[in-house]
Amino acid sequence: MSKALIPGSFDPVTKGHLDIVERAAKIFDEVIVVVLQNPAKVTTFTVEERMDFIRRVTGHLPNVHVDSFSGLLVDYMRKEDVHVIVKGLRVVSDFEYEYQMALTNRKLNPDVETFFLNTSQEYMFLSSSIVKQIASFGGDVSEFLPEPIRDDVQNRLRKGN
Ligand code: PNS
Repeated sequence: MSKALIPGSFDPVTKGHLDIVERAAKIFDEVIVVVLQNPAKVTTFTVEERMDFIRRVTGHLPNVHVDSFSGLLVDYMRKEDVHVIVKGLRVVSDFEYEYQMALTNRKLNPDVETFFLNTSQEYMFLSSSIVKQIASFGGDVSEFLPEPIRDDVQNRLRKGN
């Protein structure tokens, strides 16, 4: 059975993330979306909220599960016996950062492989931070967020948490 993991901050999950999860779910038998800590980011939503958002938007994908982990991604992968990481690549500027993470993870565990899926064209510009910035100034972010979480996320962001 093929298994892959999609790690990220997902603060919050966007249509761009969902596009990658849906496509990975067609390629692998089982996909685990894991909420992890990115030490470079201060998050707006708690881990539980982020997991809840992901669960709500992936409810139609029976082979997708949601989890969280505090620590190194490679340690989680060893624990769960997963060897493949799937990440979305948007623009060239993503490449250096993603490549660095892929090489680091493989250095930490040579059994780990990172697969990159190119982001669909309509989500090339999209990121959680862009969504948060627009919403915090009262802008409409409804078209960037998956429908099941649209109102909740937008209301939370407009209230400034
Ligand atoms: O969505 P993001 O913020 O780009 O995801 C980055 C994330 C959370 C996947 C990355 O920071 C991570 O793997 N954090 C866990 C700690 C770890 O394993 N760091 C070493 C990999 S470079």
